[in-house]
Amino acid sequence: MISALTTITDIVDRIRTGQITRIVALTGAGISTAAGIPDFRTPTSGLYDQLAPLKLPYPEAIFHINYFSHTPEPFYAIARARHPRNLLPTISHAFLALLARKNLLSFLFTQNIDGLELDAGVPAEKVLQTHGSWKTQRCHKCKVPYPDDLMQRAIRVGDVPYCLEAGCGGAVKPDVVFFGEALPERFEVEEKRLTGKGVDLMLVMGTSLKVAPCSRLPQSIGEGIPRILINREKVGDLGTREADVCLLGTCDEGVRQLADALGWRDELEGMWADAVERKEETNRRESWDEEGPTLEESIQKLTEKMKEAGRISQGHRRMLEQHLGAKFAHVLPRKSVE
Ligand code: OAD
Repeated sequence: MISALTTITDIVDRIRTGQITRIVALTGAGISTAAGIPDFRTPTSGLYDQLAPLKLPYPEAIFHINYFSHTPEPFYAIARARHPRNLLPTISHAFLALLARKNLLSFLFTQNIDGLELDAGVPAEKVLQTHGSWKTQRCHKCKVPYPDDLMQRAIRVGDVPYCLEAGCGGAVKPDVVFFGEALPERFEVEEKRLTGKGVDLMLVMGTSLKVAPCSRLPQSIGEGIPRILINREKVGDLGTREADVCLLGTCDEGVRQLADALGWRDELEGMWADAVERKEETNRRESWDEEGPTLEESIQKLTEKMKEAGRISQGHRRMLEQHLGAKFAHVLPRKSVE
């Protein structure tokens, strides 16, 4: 247990002397912004502000299963720009892999669906992608899996892929967890490791802690157990306990600072360079050849399409009103037809 007003030096000393050996990490979109995927909630640059032209009922609707079931177009308009293909892991992802290599990472809960922590070398059995991933996909209605090659084509061109089962017609969705859907069953199993005595340190990186149930993970850790937050700003209740340490700034700066203090900097940079090289090699083998539209361009295109569709449906509505007005003018008082 660490006493009053813990500092980063205290934690580093405990790691170096073997008193901290079981680290649980929780990551969010902020560790992947340096790889080129905007996060969700940062004003202006975050995805939710960028979606404004689409006039969704509320920004998160784009990832809500009910909304997707009747309007999957916005999700597919942004899919290509957020797809992890061609993205390279950051040094923050490499830091997690380094913790694993040093046998210090007990477990990683990531809310990200980009798989960059796996690309960086964190062993799959130590990671739970709490919100799923892009690896597989199925019809959101009948749940029948959908072929990878057709899915890749749909994402590349920004089209909605539909179920191939006769008579179904449901939109296909990658196996990412949408609002209104359950997290993987393994979440509750792994969550239990936080409440016992099996954790020496919790590391929280790049998340606003606005989305349950991951947002509750840092609070599940016992009071005296140190928690490190590496984020642009304070989030959740981090920084309110005596054993908390907040490194405010970018994730990449934070992990470099930790690596320097631990004497791991060269090893970290080397591991990162290797991870980048491996991913570049995969990208060369598999990448989509032509440049795609930017997120902004895709949103703009769909906004115009939706405006067009809106104009058509307004026109239909007026036609219908006129038709009904003419038809029932003799039986209904005029007011009720308008
Ligand atoms: P958010 O966008 O809510 O929060 C990202 C956090 O990372 C914010 O606190 C940013 O200030 C911070 N941040 C951004 N870039 C950073 C950087 N380079 N270095 C340090 N901090 C940085 O993203 P999440 O918390 O991951 O779920 O969002 C959680 C869930 O909400 C997502 O998994 C997604 C979303 O809706 C679903 O779609 C189901």
